[in-house]
Amino acid sequence: MSILTQLFANKIYTLAPMAAYTDLPFRSVVKQFGCDLTFSEMTNVNAISYNNEKTQKMLQKSPQESPYFVQIAANNTENAKKAVEIINEIPWIDGIDINLGCPVSKARRSGFGGVLLKEENQEKLIKIVKTITSTSKKPVSAKIRLGFDKSNVENISKLLEDLGIEFLTIHGRLVTQMYKGNTNYEEIKKAKKAVNIPVIANGDITSYQKAKEVLDFTQSDGVAIGRGAVGRPWIFLEMKQKGSITPAQKKEVILTHLKEMVNFYGEYGVILFRKHAHAYSKGTKNASEFRSKINKATSYEEVKELIEKHF
Ligand SMILES: Cc1cc2nc3c(=O)[nH]c(=O)nc-3n(C[C@H](O)[C@H](O)[C@H](O)COP(=O)(O)O)c2cc1C
Repeated sequence: MSILTQLFANKIYTLAPMAAYTDLPFRSVVKQFGCDLTFSEMTNVNAISYNNEKTQKMLQKSPQESPYFVQIAANNTENAKKAVEIINEIPWIDGIDINLGCPVSKARRSGFGGVLLKEENQEKLIKIVKTITSTSKKPVSAKIRLGFDKSNVENISKLLEDLGIEFLTIHGRLVTQMYKGNTNYEEIKKAKKAVNIPVIANGDITSYQKAKEVLDFTQSDGVAIGRGAVGRPWIFLEMKQKGSITPAQKKEVILTHLKEMVNFYGEYGVILFRKHAHAYSKGTKNASEFRSKINKATSYEEVKELIEKHF
């Protein structure tokens, strides 16, 4: 059975890629709670094709991650091809996800991510996606938004299916919306109806109830959870109705996450962990005091002690 047939045998719960958040340490934590599929942070094909140490690190996965897809962003076919050839040779990467949704202005200016959904860029989009699907020896998926400034999601989804994309994650907003307004699940439902490949619905799913409603309404094959997992990596337990964790277990998870950060990044991992510490402390007593102490702490031992006292 192919890796995707096996994966989509049941509804799946994935961790949506989030730059600066869904790195190896965070993904390894999330995997403990039953997340079915993980994606790397967005990695630019130009960076992959230079094959430097920093990018190589971004492509790594933790032992628990299987299947693991690397998300790439491309603005040209030459480096897209080179990057895919490099990924073809990395045995632990199970597939490639193409970013066709990133809304930030730097990406728009450089011509990758969501800007490729503009009608005037369709030819370029086709060339890039074709290059990737025809070069890749592994399954290729895409993560899209509904369109650039108006929804065109059914056509985009069908086009991507025709170009060899094997499943889609759809964030139900336009690129120009950034993160404003509500997720439009109606459009995701239309896209799901229009294609024969699996569709993963994404946007504002932060509870089991919401996931269930979205799955029922859109008829999609899974949901992707992004911001709802930050500070709550155990959300996947709830999603899969596999129980909940105690405050003591939460503390253990936070400490494990910190340790993983230091293992992966060295002492600098302590600084990178700050945003996670802030997220973990959301809604806890004396959170602002805890956060200001965390912002001053620079060593593993200091942060560990602060967590042990606070949680
Ligand atoms: C900080 C941050 C970074 C993100 N980085 C990426 C990224 O690298 N690639 C991507 O496809 N989407 C990225 N996204 C979008 C998320 O994957 C997701 O589509 C979006 O947050 C909506 O889902 P949510 O409401 O569950 O967070 C990012 C979102 C956030 C908040």
